[in-house]
Amino acid sequence: MNQPIREIDTGTSPERFARGWHCLGLAEDFRDGKPHGINAFGTLLVVFADSSGELKVLDGYCRHMGGNLAQGAVKGDDIACPFHDWRWRGDGRCSLVPYAKRTPRMARTRAWRTTEVNGQLLVWHDSEGSTPAAELTPPTIEGYDEGRWSPWQWSSVLIEGAHCREIVDNNVDMAHFFYIHHAYPTYFKNVIEGHTASQYMESKPRPDYVSDPDKLWEGTYLRSEATYFGPAYMINWLHNDLAPGFTVEVALINCHYPVTHDSFMLQWGVSVAEMPGLPADKAAKLAGAMNRSFGEGFLEDIEIWKNKSRIDNPLLTEEDGPVYQHRRWYEQFYVDASDVTPDMTDRFEQEVDTTHANDLWQQEVQQNLRAAGQTQSG
Ligand code: FES
Ligand SMILES: [Fe+2]
Repeated sequence: MNQPIREIDTGTSPERFARGWHCLGLAEDFRDGKPHGINAFGTLLVVFADSSGELKVLDGYCRHMGGNLAQGAVKGDDIACPFHDWRWRGDGRCSLVPYAKRTPRMARTRAWRTTEVNGQLLVWHDSEGSTPAAELTPPTIEGYDEGRWSPWQWSSVLIEGAHCREIVDNNVDMAHFFYIHHAYPTYFKNVIEGHTASQYMESKPRPDYVSDPDKLWEGTYLRSEATYFGPAYMINWLHNDLAPGFTVEVALINCHYPVTHDSFMLQWGVSVAEMPGLPADKAAKLAGAMNRSFGEGFLEDIEIWKNKSRIDNPLLTEEDGPVYQHRRWYEQFYVDASDVTPDMTDRFEQEVDTTHANDLWQQEVQQNLRAAGQTQSG
């Protein structure tokens, strides 16, 4: 009685972009001899391959008169601006102004630090301009460089009107997997440490929810280990027990880069490990079907994000997972390195007790199945 009304604190999006490695897409897609423009971090980037195929990322606007380098051309090792043909090297130096007696060779534009992991191009962003420690680079998926995995089935979608914290929150959100992703999590645990935040989940598909045209998940048991390596790059290892003794190994990349402070590009890629009983062509086909299925899942998240409020003070129950601790962890990427505190990086573990939720969900599913049965026979 007379309890005060709880109000939503919407807070405000941070005024900087996260420090960390951000994936821009599949490396091969940038090796077509053309410059590629990418809207990210509140500006335009240009990505191109030099003559040895090495990928370079520069600020997209030419320092001469602001021309858009992504509309220029790759000439030798340089990107040439479409406006007056100034040439910029991959390290940001101005290498030539063809019409000028003297090239301003000391002039430099911003060159972004890059790396390639798992066939993807990553750029380092830090408003403080730091050099990243080696251990911050996301790991190579075991066997990826040896070609044991099918080619990535890659997709992306621009999400407007939401800060990327929305997708990162999902990492600890046990209950939304039932309501949004149509799976029962029977086991759910998070482990946060340093720059990583992991989710361990076991789940079964909801039999009352039928949108599985490829029968990917029917009757399967899914074991999932997902880790964010930094603020924006997650590797999700999925072990899909299709039949006794037949487990399909799937790698799902869930990554994003901010476009502005309230929009981001979500990307996901799926690859399936080749193994006896699952030759290359079948693995590739399965990866394609899974990419579509995960895409459907993300679309359901997006529908929520587009219509929800930003909320800095969520009201939680025991089953909700460590949302606040996880946000503390996420905060480390938005403060100066010298302001990172132990409560952002200390190891923290929490397992959610899913028993009560599962009892209730079983009942709900049974009711739905009965209701569907009656409609069919009626
Ligand atoms: S604006 Fe790029 S060459 Fe002039
Ligand atoms: Fe989700």
